[in-house]
Amino acid sequence: MSSPNQDRAGSAGGADAPGPLVGGPDEDYSPEQLATMDRTELDRLGARYDGVEILHVEPGPAPGSPQERREVRKVSFAFTLAGIFALLFAVVYFGSNWFLPGWKWNAGGNNAWASLYTPLLGATMGLALIFVGIGLVLFVKNLLPHETAVQDKHDGSHFDRVTTSSTLLRTYENSGLKRRTMLKRSLGFVGGAFGLMLILPIGGLIKNPNKGDPLGTTPWGRGVRLVRDDGTPIRPADQEPGSLATVFPAVEGGNKAADAALMLIRLRPDQLDKLRPAKGMETYPYGDYVAYSKICTHAGCPVSLYEQETGRILCPCHQSQFDVTDGARPVFGPATRRLPMLPITVDDEGFFVARGDFPEAVGPSFWNIGRLDIGRSS
Ligand code: FES
Repeated sequence: MSSPNQDRAGSAGGADAPGPLVGGPDEDYSPEQLATMDRTELDRLGARYDGVEILHVEPGPAPGSPQERREVRKVSFAFTLAGIFALLFAVVYFGSNWFLPGWKWNAGGNNAWASLYTPLLGATMGLALIFVGIGLVLFVKNLLPHETAVQDKHDGSHFDRVTTSSTLLRTYENSGLKRRTMLKRSLGFVGGAFGLMLILPIGGLIKNPNKGDPLGTTPWGRGVRLVRDDGTPIRPADQEPGSLATVFPAVEGGNKAADAALMLIRLRPDQLDKLRPAKGMETYPYGDYVAYSKICTHAGCPVSLYEQETGRILCPCHQSQFDVTDGARPVFGPATRRLPMLPITVDDEGFFVARGDFPEAVGPSFWNIGRLDIGRSS
């Protein structure tokens, strides 16, 4: 028994259609003959030669029916929401102060928005992907005709190309995109917004991170006090010989700056005798105190373990060890460069202050290694 829908494109056809199948398709049908057939005929013909057997056909909602309009509205709504979230991603990204200096969303600042920057990027991109997924599922499930068919596999030919392109075009027609304007617009909107969302992060790869030398400077500078995590300053008498304290620059956000953490170490008398700062840094210590960057020069972990007996600073990540009396030269492990040393002194009130910034880049060796002329391991 045939249903009325079987006369609509995509609802019938295949191996059950009549007609000769003598030799190969190119022998049976010349290009001229194929050119005279419409898409439905070509589709059915291609299906026959492909050995396709259509087992079940379920057409989508009738064109113009209330059901179709309802489903189109749902899909368009999902795509529109996806597009809006993709655009929000772009707004958050642009506001990162990378492209619009002075914009309120300052990724590197200390305002409340800055801490929300990364979560917001993730949330907007995640919601955009979720809604585009919902839209696609609704579209395929509720608007496209559903066919169940089996097909044998074989090599391609001119005949295959013509019939396959016809099948693809017919699928496009069956999708209703041609006449479902609202759906088409929402798809165009989400496509554009998605493209923007995916392309924007490339901007982060194009931007020159060394512009203004941000990787070579830290919050340390002449006269900046060394303070504990609670903000209290330190005097030379505050530490026992052989002890280590983690200190930060006394500037706003100093204890949160990734490149500013410092190890202030008071050497024992026997260590002081052996102290050999790197070339050009002989004046950097103050009395029996030395100050080294806490950021490992291998991969940037905090080097927080200090072995008093051997005078070695250990990095827990990959076990690099630095000799505290030998200018923090790496003596074991994968690190290849000394920990940068900070020049220190005391101010008029007797508190430790920096005499300037680190003379070299802090952190992993691949940052600007070419411009470093001091502090390398020998
Ligand atoms: S990060 Fe310190 S040894 Fe690898």
